[in-house]
Amino acid sequence: MSRIYVLHENPAWLPPLAAAFDQRRLPWTEWFLHHGTFDLAAPPPEGVFYNRMSASSHTREHRYSAELTAAVLAWLTSHGRRVVNGAGALDLEISKVRQYAALALHDVATPRTVLVAGREQIVSAARQHFPDAPIILKPNRGGKGLGVRLFLAADSLATYVDSDDYEHPVDGLQLLQEYVRAPRPVITRAEFVGGHFLYAVEVDTTEGFELCPADACAIGDAVCPVGESPRQKFEIVDGIDAALRLRLERFLANAGIEVAGIEFISDESGRTLVYDVNTNTNYNADAEERAGRADTSRSGPGAIAAFLGAELARLPIAA
Ligand SMILES: Nc1ncnc2c1ncn2[C@@H]1O[C@H](COP(=O)(O)OP(=O)(O)O)[C@@H](O)[C@H]1O
Ligand SMILES: [Mg+2]
Repeated sequence: MSRIYVLHENPAWLPPLAAAFDQRRLPWTEWFLHHGTFDLAAPPPEGVFYNRMSASSHTREHRYSAELTAAVLAWLTSHGRRVVNGAGALDLEISKVRQYAALALHDVATPRTVLVAGREQIVSAARQHFPDAPIILKPNRGGKGLGVRLFLAADSLATYVDSDDYEHPVDGLQLLQEYVRAPRPVITRAEFVGGHFLYAVEVDTTEGFELCPADACAIGDAVCPVGESPRQKFEIVDGIDAALRLRLERFLANAGIEVAGIEFISDESGRTLVYDVNTNTNYNADAEERAGRADTSRSGPGAIAAFLGAELARLPIAA
């Protein structure tokens, strides 16, 4: 019988999706892509294959999971299997530079960014391209905000780059990026399922750059004070700008991405800049609960399960 296969490398992120599958009585199996053996001469099983490989997989000692996933996706695709978030999605998941190039094709603005290969070139590149300005240093292949740092000037960047704390980017590529100063300390993450906008969540950034919304990543109290009244760290908001939404949906369609969380910041002058595309997206259960979306097909996991269930129902019955 055909099933839904979830390709992933982090069991901690699976339970909400598992619950949504089980609630809908959908047949599903996980493929944990850290180790494995695949007979390339044999056809894969019948089903719908949902790729959730994460850019941060190397931080969980799964250094080669993304490479393994790329190989498995090629095998699945060569056999004509229905893959959700296939090779195109993985390609962007693991490279912000490729994300920005693909976004530019759809007139989506991104922060000014300089690509640097080589630790010894970082500081001179910062002095040349971002003189007297705050700078964000982030790895090209990121995830969960790990390794993303703000420096108020090139001197403090130099101190860090020369120190033992310096973190080497896993693919050797660093990005220097303009610091986008938001009038309020929030970023917006727009969630898309089946290629369509589902909802947006505002994330309070007061506590720093590690913004994974999954419960499994929560660190301490999730309520941050903003102004007079306490505000939740993750808060679902109504839609996003209609023109931006359309451009993002076109970008996703073109890149072969069906499930995504796209992050952007609006600065004081009103520019909206997209800086991160997550094809392995997690959802904040408390925020969904407060918005009345929990356990419905309007929640993230519910929408994905409903979408994959519909794709499974569309498959021809195996002979
Ligand atoms: N250019 C920027 N200006 C201001 N804040 C930024 C910028 N880039 C990243 N950040 C902050 O750092 C967080 C993590 O950066 P991001 O690019 O999303 O990396 P990751 O892929 O690891 O999630 C963002 O959610 C945001 O809060
Ligand atoms: Mg991010």
